[in-house]
Amino acid sequence: MNRKGIVLAGGSGSRLHPLTLAVSKQLLPVYDKPMVYYPLGVLMLAGMRDVLLISTPRDTPLFAELLGDGSAWGMSITYAIQKKPAGLAEAYLIGADFLGSSLPCLILGDNIFFGHDLGPRLRKVNNRPHGATIFAYPVADPRAYGVVELGAAGQPLSIEEKPAVPKGRHAVTGLYFHDQQAVDFARQLAPSPRGELEITDLNRHYLNSGQLEVELLGRGDVWLDAGTHDSLVDASNFVQSLETRQGQKICCPEEIAWRQGWIDDEQLARLAHRQQQSPYGAYLAGLPGQSGI
Ligand code: DAU
Repeated sequence: MNRKGIVLAGGSGSRLHPLTLAVSKQLLPVYDKPMVYYPLGVLMLAGMRDVLLISTPRDTPLFAELLGDGSAWGMSITYAIQKKPAGLAEAYLIGADFLGSSLPCLILGDNIFFGHDLGPRLRKVNNRPHGATIFAYPVADPRAYGVVELGAAGQPLSIEEKPAVPKGRHAVTGLYFHDQQAVDFARQLAPSPRGELEITDLNRHYLNSGQLEVELLGRGDVWLDAGTHDSLVDASNFVQSLETRQGQKICCPEEIAWRQGWIDDEQLARLAHRQQQSPYGAYLAGLPGQSGI
């Protein structure tokens, strides 16, 4: 499927001050890698090799320094600036030229996903040519999120942004598969009372025209958004526990690129060599010797 990814990695990061006074939230570490590796890894798992990263005027050069043009991972990564955090849906206005006639997928730079069979599930959604697909995740308190109300058959009934009285317990995660209509829908949006072009309003366009599908993430799935001091530590602890126990990394872009066949053993070895002083580099160096997956 001809789909391009957009990672939205701007915002003020004010809830993480003073950590983010000098550096973007999405460049902070989540255990052994920068936060942005996790959403990038998700796009890669879904099969997307062409990615636009959008961030602030201050931080975009840092992302470019970290990720380059993507060719080391067999990808193309380009950059665009969002002048002010005017809302998630603005990503489609900023990214319109990049998208051209391709289908878009938007992921937030602070969202971390992990789950059994995540790759195949993402690839299935990636292959849907029409409409929109969002991912719903049950949370104890959904008031801080977009909330989707589901009918008995799991069909979406309503979608609201940060409702004071939620009509359900399913938060809408920061991963959105849309079709080409998304850019036009984004152009029709007016700023919400908090002054932002809301992705929830864009998704409501799809819902109202019967084109919104919801994929349910369940008990076996992990969705974290590392936007507060506590959730940042929680995310690091989670990744550390799992990686140490299993000896396998979560959302390691070099590994995903290699397993997808976008880079060969030699290119992987070069990436490992560059980071050879760290356990991360040693992990990369050891991958080709492992049997199975
Ligand atoms: O994480 C999922 C939630 O993300 C959804 O459930 C909500 O429906 C959606 O509105 C969004 O809610 P948040 O309140 O978490 O959005 P926040 O303003 O924190 O922005 C999410 C990320 O996107 C954050 O890392 C900053 C970045 N961002 C945000 C805005 C508004 C940008 O890069 N540009 C922006 O204009």
